[in-house]
Amino acid sequence: MSPTSLFSEGNIGATQVKNRVFMAPLTRNRAQADGTPKAMATEYYKQRATAGLIITEATQISPLGKGYLDTPGLYNETHAEAWKAITSAVHQQNGKIFIQLWHVGRISHLSLLPKGEQPIAPSAIRANSQTFTEKGFEDTSDPRAIKSEEIPSLIEQYRSATRLAKSAGFDGVEVHGANGYLLNQFIASNCNKRTDAYGGTIENRSRLLLEVIDAVSNEIGAEKVGVRLSPIGQFNDIDVSDSSEIYPYIYKELENRKLAYLHVVEAFPGADVPEAHKTLIENLRSSFKGNYIANGGYDKDRGQDIVNSGLAFAVAYGRPYISNPDLPARFDKGIALTEPDQSTFYGGNETGYTDYPAAT
Ligand SMILES: Cc1cc2nc3c(=O)[nH]c(=O)nc-3n(C[C@H](O)[C@H](O)[C@H](O)COP(=O)(O)O)c2cc1C
Repeated sequence: MSPTSLFSEGNIGATQVKNRVFMAPLTRNRAQADGTPKAMATEYYKQRATAGLIITEATQISPLGKGYLDTPGLYNETHAEAWKAITSAVHQQNGKIFIQLWHVGRISHLSLLPKGEQPIAPSAIRANSQTFTEKGFEDTSDPRAIKSEEIPSLIEQYRSATRLAKSAGFDGVEVHGANGYLLNQFIASNCNKRTDAYGGTIENRSRLLLEVIDAVSNEIGAEKVGVRLSPIGQFNDIDVSDSSEIYPYIYKELENRKLAYLHVVEAFPGADVPEAHKTLIENLRSSFKGNYIANGGYDKDRGQDIVNSGLAFAVAYGRPYISNPDLPARFDKGIALTEPDQSTFYGGNETGYTDYPAAT
């Protein structure tokens, strides 16, 4: 039998994929102000439907889950209808698509939230970080600590978004537990100073993530649920000094749940990865027995190597998919990649969004 390659088909949970060149979630800030995706998003995702799996841009599960200008939502029927056009277009091309469910927690700004609302967080500690508003980059606003009695309704928002994801035709959902947003804030000891069942010990700081995953799995089935983590990610003011203690526990708990996959941001654009962090990522990866998606700075060769060695089921490519809609074919045929234009990453119109041509 030939070894698994980036171009091998396979099953990830309940989803059959045609290759292992997945599309990573990419925020593009081009939705309507009320969170409804615009028609051009349908064209954008359709152009990228040769990916084995598309994971959508992060999508807020509630008005308070929003932290940047013009990001999409999935918390009402209007949103679901717009997403349905996108999933239908992707399915018509024989593609597969999961939606990334997002709550930003403290990475938000008052101007982005309903009047009178404050960002929520595990504890009332402002992030030393910025977000993108109507006025450009601005410091994040002071959050308030979510009350213990509010947590069930927060979990319900994830479940309800999953129900809408089903009706919108998604193949599954990815719970965003990475990059310094709400679920990551509960995991991180510098933002979580709670004294209830959601703070303190490793088990307590992991609890919200796991309860969200269980609620979402209950709604759609564990085999259609993925989760994204960033164990060494310091983006958005996250302290990772005890990652080697908490993440082995989290990986084990996820493994027991037999999810579709665990997706890990192993490196960040432009950031050096210290040796100790590399080792931690490798040790965690080799200990994990479920489907693993690797992400962060992979090119074709490194992607081939990790899939070939069996250490990852697939690789998620982020920036390359912005400017190479037909990335799997380019890898397969050895066609040079187009560099993305960073000035059109966040916000704007079709330019730098749907006007990168396929080379094949
Ligand atoms: C423009 C842009 C938007 C991003 N948006 C998201 C997002 O919505 N959700 C997420 O988990 N990561 C997001 N990321 C991180 C990427 O998914 C990915 O982890 C990162 O780009 C590293 O992968 P790469 O080297 O293949 O680009 C974003 C990155 C970029 C450059």
